[in-house]
Amino acid sequence: MAATQTNPLRVGLRQERVISPQCLVIFGASGDLTHRKLIPALFELFRQRRLPTEFSVLGCARRPWSDDDFRNRMAEAMADEVKQHQTAWQQFAACLFYEPVDLQQDEDVVRLGTRLEALDRQRATRGNRTFYLSVSPAFYGSGCRALANAGLLKDQSRSRVVIEKPFGTDYSSAQSLNRVVQSCGQESQIFRIDHYLGKETVQNILVLRFANAIFEPIWNRNYIANVQITAAETVGVEERAGYYETSGALRDMVQNHLTQMLALTAMETPGHFDPESIRSEKAKVLQAARLANEDEPWKCCVRGQYSRGGNPANPMAGYREEPGVNPESTTETYVAMKLFIDNWRWQGVPFYLRTGKRLPKRLSEVVLTFRKAPVQLFDAAGGTPTANQLVLRIQPDEGAGFVFDVKAPGSGMRSRPVDMHFSYDESFGEPSDEGYVRLLADAMLGDPTLFTRSDEVEAAWRLYTPLLELIEDAPQQLPVYPYEARTWGPGAADNLLAEDGLMWRRP
Ligand code: BG6
Repeated sequence: MAATQTNPLRVGLRQERVISPQCLVIFGASGDLTHRKLIPALFELFRQRRLPTEFSVLGCARRPWSDDDFRNRMAEAMADEVKQHQTAWQQFAACLFYEPVDLQQDEDVVRLGTRLEALDRQRATRGNRTFYLSVSPAFYGSGCRALANAGLLKDQSRSRVVIEKPFGTDYSSAQSLNRVVQSCGQESQIFRIDHYLGKETVQNILVLRFANAIFEPIWNRNYIANVQITAAETVGVEERAGYYETSGALRDMVQNHLTQMLALTAMETPGHFDPESIRSEKAKVLQAARLANEDEPWKCCVRGQYSRGGNPANPMAGYREEPGVNPESTTETYVAMKLFIDNWRWQGVPFYLRTGKRLPKRLSEVVLTFRKAPVQLFDAAGGTPTANQLVLRIQPDEGAGFVFDVKAPGSGMRSRPVDMHFSYDESFGEPSDEGYVRLLADAMLGDPTLFTRSDEVEAAWRLYTPLLELIEDAPQQLPVYPYEARTWGPGAADNLLAEDGLMWRRP
């Protein structure tokens, strides 16, 4: 409240749309995502008074829990928040329910239908349902079928399905999965989630580009020399070896999160700010994107895997020593690559993508490097003239920066780069909501803008098909180079840029 009164930039915020009476059904309710992300996000929405009074969450999984077991487990997992907001938690916990359900068992699905009807009566939720599939990806298709066969997706305007990533494991599996889910309901009922789209700073790429008159005229091949998109993590594989071993960084981060940042950065101006105009532009630009060397993909991609590292006070295991990882694993924990986009705006401009685990810093950013001034009138104080850069800082330290040259102080006329920067925290005075807060609210509102459409997801998989095929058929051509934990990835990734006379931005 104080922030709204004292900070003029916050005036007018929180003019939220209203979520209709609603039952959110979470399949996979005993899993990690539910207690780490989904229930905390719903509790946040509850505390912000953005959930309707007629609201319930029905957790579903195979475990034979009761409503109280579910409430207690969630409370244990969120002990700090519950302690801080005890009264609110008591009220919120009263909206939580649980039903043991295995979507593969017909009788369970019938029982689910009966329980939902009972909850509708008890909580006055009027048959509005959002089904969240937080289950193993192998069950996305059969889960949708089970819901459709039980008639739970029949009402297009009242029922929706949210599907977690990964949506497919390659182009053809994504196509098949799309066919299955689209046979169960309308595309407008399907919400494919990518939590990066829930981040304020990722959405800000659109606002920065299209709300300001100065950027669009220079946002093209005439002014931009190259684009770097980075998502660096300090964490390792943690407890997720089972999933990660079959996925690797390319499927886990690049096909979805980095590709979404690429699409928003490179898309054309949509005619309107409506879900279909935006998603169509994103799909179009992804359809025009290609690996820099499609016929020889090993020339434009580098894979890496972290080995032991850290320091004596904080030693870090190598990926192959992590629990559950095959000691001879060739799964990549790092990928760097070069892409082109074959359209009028971007022809010839390289887009470099990189992501990795166990890097020295947690950092996601999009960096647009402009062409150098055509004539160098001044000596550069640092020796070599620099290029202007626009840095969109996705996380942490959310905001944006612009690097430009000024006169270095002192006699003479030498130039030196400085950084002008905008920070969400400093300007708006409070941290942004977690991505899942926004995305869960949007799914329940039925707003698909920040969810990926079938053609987008297919275009994203198709883009990486030559690499996925190479890894499958001739992995020796795309070796996994080791890099020491807490370093910036294998040297080969530096060479990828060095060949073009460039360097990765080192924050
Ligand atoms: C998930 C990946 O989608 O994104 C994880 O499966 C990764 O491996 C995570 O750690 C990164 O998300 P964020 O929001 O922490 O950048």
